[in-house]
Amino acid sequence: MRVLLLGKNGQVGWELQRSLAPLGEVLALDRHSRDFCGDLSQPERLAQTVLAYRPDVIVNAGAHTAVDKAESETPLARCLNATAPAALAQAAADTGAWLVHYSTDYVFNGQGGQAWQEDDATGPLSVYGQTKLEGEQAIAQRCAKHLIFRTSWVYGARGGNFARTMLRLAGERERLTVIDDQHGAPTGADLIADVTAHAIRQVLAAPHESLAGIYHLVASGETTWHGYASHVVAQARGMKPELDLKVKEIVAVPTSAFVTPAQRPLNSRLSTRKLQQTFGLVLPPWQQGVDRLLTEIL
Ligand SMILES: NC(=O)c1ccc[n+]([C@@H]2O[C@H](COP(=O)([O-])OP(=O)(O)OC[C@H]3O[C@@H](n4cnc5c(N)ncnc54)[C@H](OP(=O)(O)O)[C@@H]3O)[C@@H](O)[C@H]2O)c1
Repeated sequence: MRVLLLGKNGQVGWELQRSLAPLGEVLALDRHSRDFCGDLSQPERLAQTVLAYRPDVIVNAGAHTAVDKAESETPLARCLNATAPAALAQAAADTGAWLVHYSTDYVFNGQGGQAWQEDDATGPLSVYGQTKLEGEQAIAQRCAKHLIFRTSWVYGARGGNFARTMLRLAGERERLTVIDDQHGAPTGADLIADVTAHAIRQVLAAPHESLAGIYHLVASGETTWHGYASHVVAQARGMKPELDLKVKEIVAVPTSAFVTPAQRPLNSRLSTRKLQQTFGLVLPPWQQGVDRLLTEIL
């Protein structure tokens, strides 16, 4: 089997390089790749890559993920998040490949307190959310053999992440202010990649495109950024008492305390019942992945 992976160096892309490896031959590209184009800003050349490499599965982990920047560079965000996925979907349909793609809780308007179901009405609040939604729709229109995983609050052990930032600030300041009215589930890039590999195996074994569709993929449970930060600091102190964390108080503040170009949804809870039932998978509590991350970065 041949797998084409795009966005190989992002948080999820990096973990996919590991989790997709046992499936077969993996061609992993980023925007700088030379022999084959992996640049999402060049949709036509991406399609040529698909036609030349003829993968059985395309996994697109690349995206314009800079939520605030997207407000001021809408054409680029639209190209990366919607036009490129559309071109990939068309090329996948033309060659009979599956397309696996990632989307976001930002397609919803964040109202209410219930976990969003896959078929709930969308209502993005930001350019990022709107262009990611357009990407979902473009894929569903062009390629029946698709899996779209909507996820949220993604972290990876590699590079910057929320836990690392909180630990740095907790080492520098006695008082932190963290948002407590956005609700969601921190989700590890490693979990997303592993679930992706399991799902790919199952869609390939199932008849036709019976398992195709949109699935919510997040760790189980829920918290706020304030709850997340408090957990990180408490766990870090427990795991490494010798850490000299200055922080004495983590103050809960509303989203309105921080002015950002893009509006964030308050309710990012995603119901994962469909994913767990369809693929027979169990999603671990968010604390499990975060604690594992802490053992890696502390
Ligand atoms: N991060 C989150 O909290 C979150 C939440 C919900 C959904 N998602 C979705 O999950 C997926 C994976 O996100 P992530 O957290 O892994 O994001 P990420 O770490 O920001 O990775 C995105 C990747 O896209 C690449 N990219 C940017 N422009 C490109 C271009 N022109 N051509 C090719 N690649 C390009 C980036 O490459 P460079 O490193 O070269 O810039 C980066 O490797 C995305 O679809 C995202 O929308 C993420």
